[in-house]
Amino acid sequence: ETIFLADYTPPGWLVEDVSLTFRLAPDATRVLSRIRFRPNPDGTQDRFFLHGEKLTLISARIDGAPVTPDVTDEGLTCAVPDGAFTWETEVEIAPAQNFALEGLYMSNGMYCTQCEAEGFRKITYYPDRPDVMATFTVRIESDLPVMLSNGNPGASGPGWTEWHDPWPKPAYLFALVAGDLIAHPDSFTTQSGKDVALNIWVRPGDEGKCAFGMEALKKSMKWDEEVYGREYDLDIFNIVAVDDFNMGAMENKGLNVFNSSCVLASPETSTDGNFERVEAIIAHEYFHNWTGNRITCRDWFQLCLKEGLTVFRDSQFTSDMRSAPVKRISDVIALRARQFREDNGPLAHPVRPESFREINNFYTATVYEKGAEVIGMLKRLVGDEAYEKACDLYFTRHDGQACTIEDWLQVFTEATGRDLGQFKRWYSQAGTPRLTLRETWDEGTLTLHFSQRTPPTPGQTDKQPQVLPIAVGLIGPDGEEVQETTLLEMTETEQSFSFSGLGARPVASVLRGFSAPVILQRDQDNADRAFLLAHDTDPYCRWEAGRALAKQALMRMITDDAPADPAYLGALTTLLGDETLDPAFRALAMALPSEDDLAQSLADTGHVPDPQRIWDKREAMRDAMADFMPDLLAQLFDAHQVPGRYAPEAAPAAARALANSALALLSRRDGGERARVQYAEADNMTQQLAALSCLLSIGMADDALGAFYDQWQSDRLVIDKWFSLQVAFAAPDQTAATAARLAGHPDFDMKNPNRFRATFGALAASPAGFHHASGAGYRLLADWLIRLDALNPQTTARMSTAFETWKRFDADRQDMIRAELERILSRDGLSRDTSEMITRILAA
Ligand code: ARG
Ligand code: ZN
Repeated sequence: ETIFLADYTPPGWLVEDVSLTFRLAPDATRVLSRIRFRPNPDGTQDRFFLHGEKLTLISARIDGAPVTPDVTDEGLTCAVPDGAFTWETEVEIAPAQNFALEGLYMSNGMYCTQCEAEGFRKITYYPDRPDVMATFTVRIESDLPVMLSNGNPGASGPGWTEWHDPWPKPAYLFALVAGDLIAHPDSFTTQSGKDVALNIWVRPGDEGKCAFGMEALKKSMKWDEEVYGREYDLDIFNIVAVDDFNMGAMENKGLNVFNSSCVLASPETSTDGNFERVEAIIAHEYFHNWTGNRITCRDWFQLCLKEGLTVFRDSQFTSDMRSAPVKRISDVIALRARQFREDNGPLAHPVRPESFREINNFYTATVYEKGAEVIGMLKRLVGDEAYEKACDLYFTRHDGQACTIEDWLQVFTEATGRDLGQFKRWYSQAGTPRLTLRETWDEGTLTLHFSQRTPPTPGQTDKQPQVLPIAVGLIGPDGEEVQETTLLEMTETEQSFSFSGLGARPVASVLRGFSAPVILQRDQDNADRAFLLAHDTDPYCRWEAGRALAKQALMRMITDDAPADPAYLGALTTLLGDETLDPAFRALAMALPSEDDLAQSLADTGHVPDPQRIWDKREAMRDAMADFMPDLLAQLFDAHQVPGRYAPEAAPAAARALANSALALLSRRDGGERARVQYAEADNMTQQLAALSCLLSIGMADDALGAFYDQWQSDRLVIDKWFSLQVAFAAPDQTAATAARLAGHPDFDMKNPNRFRATFGALAASPAGFHHASGAGYRLLADWLIRLDALNPQTTARMSTAFETWKRFDADRQDMIRAELERILSRDGLSRDTSEMITRILAA
C-alpha cells in the first residue's frame, strides 16, 4: 500500500472525452457517466482498472451492452474489447453523509466537490490519475437555482443545466457546485480583447464581502498577462465560497472553490492580514490555470511542479502589489515556522517525495514553501532574463501535457546551457542545510569560508553538498556599502570566497534576501549585528540582524537567567524611532522570535527546551520592552493612528500594524486603558481584534469578549476568531481547559474544519499550553483527533503534526506524547491518512 515514484507506469487507456449527468439528491445522488476510452500506445498495463471508492454501482455497459465488472473497495476491473470503446455506468452516492469533504458533499444545503488529489473516485468510476486528461461535458439536474461546473455554460432548462469544458484536464480539476447562491458579477477583457464574465458566488447574506476578492481576481488576471504572458482561456471564471472546506482553496478549471475564510472579506469582519491572505490565495488559484491546469503533473510525486511554482508566482504578485521587503521577511518567518520545523522532525521529506501511503499527507510546507524557494533559487542563479526565456519555453512546449520536474529543469538547461544535475538535489534531498560561515581578514582582503552540512532525515542518512546561491554585500565601517549585492555560488562542502582591495575591514551582509533556504550559523558579535541592524541596505538582512540580537538575548535569559539585554533594547529603540523606515518593517522588527523557534534553537544547541520557561522569558522580555521605551511606544501609537475610512491597503495596514504592536506593550502598563478606548471606537476588525487581544493578554477582556460575541454571533468567520483568540491568549495552565470549554459551546461544530482548527489549531499553536507539564493539552488533542478521524481523516491527519516536535522535549513529556500517539494508532478503523502520519511521527 506504499506507492513509489520509481514504480510509475503510463496508463493503459486514455480518455477521449467524458460526459457526466448528476441527478442531485442529498442521500441518493445518481451519477451517470459516458467515457470514450482508447488504448494508450505507450501503455504497459493490460488489465482495465478504474478507481472507485464508496460508490454503489447500479449498472455498467460497454458499447451499449451490459457488463458485470469485478468490484473491490478500491475500484473495478472488467474485460474490455481491443481498441476504442465507450464505457457507461450509473452509480449512487450520498453527498449529505460525506463528512470527509472529499468527492461530492454538502455544506449548508449546497452541493460542492473537492477532487484533488484523489476525490473524483468517490464520484464515479474513472482512471483517477493526473496523466489522464480529457474534455468534460456535464449535465446537472436539480431544482436548485444555481448549478455550476467547469468550462463554458451550455444549454439549460427548468431543472437542468449543461456545461462544457473544452480544455482537456485530469479528473482532480473537476468541480460541481449547486445551491441557492448569489453572484457578485464583474468582467475582464484579456490582452487579446476577449471578454470574460467573472462571478464570485456566495450564500445569501455574504454578498457584501465579495468586492475585495473580485478586485484581487482582476489584478491577478492582469498581472499574469503582463509578467508571464499568460491569458485566460474560457468565457467565464467562477469562484464559489464554501463554509466547510478542508484547506484554503482549489483551482478547478474555470470554477475555483474557496474556503469562505479565504475569499470573503469586509472591513468590519476581516483584519488586514485576512485581506492580504485573500488577495494572495485568489491569485494563487488563478495562476494555477497555467501552472497546474494547462500544464499539470504526471503523477502526485510531481506535486511541487505546480505548487512550488504557483506559490512562487503568488509571492511575486504580492511583492508587486504590496511591499516586496515586507513580503519577503514574512515569507521567511513562515518558512522557518512551518517548513524548517517539518524538515527537522520525523515528517521531513524531499520537495519531491519518493513514496507515500496517502497523498493528502504531502500537501506540506516542504512541497509548497520549500518548493517555491527552489524556484526562487533557480531564478537567482540563471538571472531574470533566462528565467523568463525558460518559462516561455515551458509554456509552449508543455501546454496540454502532464509533466515532471525533469521537464521543468530541462527547459532551464536548454535556455541557459547550464548543467542542473547538482541543483536537482534540492528536489530529492530532505532536510535544512546548515551553512557555517567563518571570516578572515588579511591586508585589504576579506575571505568568507563557508561549509555546508545537512543533517540526516528519515530514510536519508548521507547527504551530498547542494548548490547554494549566497547573496553577499559588504558594509564599510562608516556605514557605506563598499560591495553591492553579488551572488556567490557554493557547490562544494567547503568553499571560500575572497573580496580584495578593501580599505578597512567591512561587515559582511550574508544571505541577502534569504537567497537560500538554509540555517546560517555565524559567530557574529552583537556589535556587528547592531551595526547591520543600523546600516544594512538589504531589508531581509537588516531584519535578520535584529532578530539575531533578540534571539541571543532571549536565549541567555532562558539558559542563564540573564536580564533582558539593554544593548538589544537600545538598538531596537533606535530602529523603531527611525521615521524613514516602513512602519510594517518596524512592526516586524518588534516581534520576538516565536516560542517554537526558540525551542528549536535550544534543542539545536544541546538544551532541552522547557515550554513554560520559554513563555515566561518571552513575557519578561516584553515587560522589559514596555519599561525601556514607554515614551517611544506612546508616540508610535499616537503617530500611527490612521484617520478616515478603513482601506485594506499596504500603507494604512502598515501603520495599524505598528500602532497595534506598540499598543500590545503599552497595555501591559496602562491597565488596558488605550485598548478599551480602541475597542469601543473601532469601526474595523483589525482595530477591534487588536484591542481585544491586548485585553485578553492582560486578563481584562471579560466584558469585551461578551460584547464581541453578541455583536458577531451570526458571522461564522468572526466567531472563528472569537474561539481561537481565547485559546491563544489563555494562560498556559488554562489553555487546554479553555479549548475544552469552547468545544462544549453550542457554536462548536466539529464537522466544520474552520471551527475545529480555530479551537484545536490554537491549542496546538500555543506551545506552553499544549506542552503543559500536566499533559492535559496532549490528552485533549488526542481525544478530539480520535473523534474527528471518524468523520474527516484529512483534517485529522493535518492536525496531528502538532506532535511532530515531540523528540525535542524531556522524558516525561515524551512518554506522555508517545502514550497519546499509541492510543490514537490503536483505534479500530483509524484512517489511512492519520495512521500514516502517526506512524511516521512515532518512528522518530
Ligand atoms: N491545489 C490546492 C491549492 O494549492 C490545494 C489542494 C489541497 N488538496 C489536498 N488534498 N490537501 O491551491
Ligand atoms: Zn496550489
